[in-house]
Amino acid sequence: EKAGYDHFMLKEIHEEPGAVRDTLMEMDDVRRIVSEIGEVKRVCFVACGTSYHASFVGKYLFESLLGIPTDVILASEFNYSVRTLTEDTLAVFISQSGETADTLNAIRAANSRARTLAIVNVLGSSATREAQHVLYTRAGPEIGVAATKTYVSQLTVIYMLVAAMGGLDDLVEKLEGVPDIMEEILRDEDGIREMARAYSEAEDFFFIGRGFSYPTALEGALKLKEITYIHGEGYAAGELKHGPLALIDDGVPVVAVAPPGPCHDKTLSNVEEVKARGARVIGVGSRDDASLRNEVDDFIGMDPGVDEVISPLVYIVPLQLLSYYVSVERGIDPDKPKNLAKCVTVV
Ligand code: M6R
Repeated sequence: EKAGYDHFMLKEIHEEPGAVRDTLMEMDDVRRIVSEIGEVKRVCFVACGTSYHASFVGKYLFESLLGIPTDVILASEFNYSVRTLTEDTLAVFISQSGETADTLNAIRAANSRARTLAIVNVLGSSATREAQHVLYTRAGPEIGVAATKTYVSQLTVIYMLVAAMGGLDDLVEKLEGVPDIMEEILRDEDGIREMARAYSEAEDFFFIGRGFSYPTALEGALKLKEITYIHGEGYAAGELKHGPLALIDDGVPVVAVAPPGPCHDKTLSNVEEVKARGARVIGVGSRDDASLRNEVDDFIGMDPGVDEVISPLVYIVPLQLLSYYVSVERGIDPDKPKNLAKCVTVV
């Protein structure tokens, strides 16, 4: 069942290139739904957990590429916003399972006020029956409690949605290149396994990123706490000096997500700030980024062709692997973390 892998989580990370490829095959369906939905003036994403982090990438895409104001709301907090929905709002509900109770309640509350679209992995799940429109991620069944291949598939659908709404063919071309780049990372996972060994005793971890890398930082931190039980915090790099910098001490690991692009240099100066306070920094950046490589203790090099906009799909892969190997190193079963269920059907 695990196809020779020690855990479902590792198998599912290795299935990511295929999941993205299969999801990309749905482009015609995405175009059809976009024409059914028509013009929208505002987008509102609603989700929980990892699906909530995927929504943040949606916000940055809709706002920076299409200029459409976009909110991201936790499904459990949605009640307070429901009155702001109008007919020209597209409310997008993201859920792997399609059974998360808070998300289902939010769809029901939104249906009479706005246009509703669910992005779901499980065929025929409750969310697919509640929402007015449905798009599927084609990740296949995900057994591990930690969402991995479904996250990158959710991101893929969101990019496709934005590409279809804006007629952005160049974005679709970029997406088509992603599976090969993921495969390259997966062929090279031994370096990350070794790195995990060196960090497995840590008590706190920080993940920082700006712009499109902020959701990656949030999701990196969630994966870590979920399956390693290490305290992990994801922060917008620019927020560090507004509080959390006080927690940076000798040897505290900081993962800095810094793809090439307009945010790069600012993130690099945040890396310098934490280094000056003794942090042990893992930099994730372009393979040819000497400025980052020289500043950090450990470096994860990515394909130089991956720009900031497309980076969330690619840069999360080494972070998932890092958490996976730290979990194994700590003797935890990453497929069944304590206190958590794959699907939360209670509010
Ligand atoms: O099935 P859903 O996408 O609605 O689930 C939402 C969260 O419960 C889920 O993403 C959770 O955060 C994952 N276990 C994270 O890995």
